[in-house]
Amino acid sequence: MKLPRDFFKPLAIGAPAPLRELPVRLERMIHFVPPHMEKVRAKVPDLIAKVDVVLGNLEDAIPIEAKEAARRGFIEMAKASDFGSTGLWTRINALNSPWVLDDLFEIVREVGDKLDVVMLPKVEGPWDIHYLDQLLAQLEARHQVRKPILIHAILETAEGVKNVEAIAAASPRMHGMSLGPADLAASRAMKTTRVGGGHPDYRVLADATEAGSARASAQQDLWHYTVAKMVDACASAGIKPFYGPFGDFSDEAACEAQFRNAFLMGCAGAWSLHPTQIDIAKKVFSPDPGEVRFAKKILDAMPDGSGAVMIDGKMQDDATWKQAKVIVDLARIVAA
Ligand code: GLV
Ligand code: MG
Repeated sequence: MKLPRDFFKPLAIGAPAPLRELPVRLERMIHFVPPHMEKVRAKVPDLIAKVDVVLGNLEDAIPIEAKEAARRGFIEMAKASDFGSTGLWTRINALNSPWVLDDLFEIVREVGDKLDVVMLPKVEGPWDIHYLDQLLAQLEARHQVRKPILIHAILETAEGVKNVEAIAAASPRMHGMSLGPADLAASRAMKTTRVGGGHPDYRVLADATEAGSARASAQQDLWHYTVAKMVDACASAGIKPFYGPFGDFSDEAACEAQFRNAFLMGCAGAWSLHPTQIDIAKKVFSPDPGEVRFAKKILDAMPDGSGAVMIDGKMQDDATWKQAKVIVDLARIVAA
């Protein structure tokens, strides 16, 4: 049998992965499930119809004593269903953990043909991606896996942020990258106790107008810098950026606002950790119908994508034509 490594042969490690080689898939939400819980596994067939990606989580939030049960549970849930066009991912344990080798050996052996993406936590530099790339190549060859398993890195250490461009371009296997705000906050010694989102004290105060009058202030986006850096690194390497988790399940408005910032900045999706976040992500990461209508007007007004026209009092040119195309193309994939 022809092995999928041939697909990668012409590209040396370190070469960027051109976008055209990635499957064009809608991945608005990466829905996390804890696979050691039987009642959660029982709901996977229903989930498949609702989400773009189902991810079996083996890393943080899975208790140490349940690590093996989670791995076995993931294999069981992967075997039990046909995932169709819904992505099947797993988040393995970190490369310096005692579980990661068994995670990879057993999962690729048992369900390597069904697995689309391995999410790798705590990535610090391209060396972590090279190591996983080689391991996957060996395991795919050993188990005759017919399609290459892709790698998705979590950007969640200060060292990782420093090396984000090299990580994004580390292998043709790179699918994308997610911001991991909880671990990143700890790694940077940020003074927060949250999983993503804003903080009421991270704000700027407007200038004083009159002595004694209340001063307006606005909360800022704690994650703006990192998301912007990640989006540029991913776009230049031809891979997809994602916002990660939003831990306050009770604050749907704040989750939506954080996801929307990420969407507007260029992210393709976010993690959903709770069923209510599935619909939030679906709404946010599908383009707004009003925006799509306006974007179509731009494409219609400039059939060859060049020149300059005025639409509703706003100037459009080659550059806005390209922006409009991003929105219209995404709307097409959503409608398909
Ligand atoms: C995710 O893994 C995070 O640390 O935010
Ligand atoms: Mg983390």
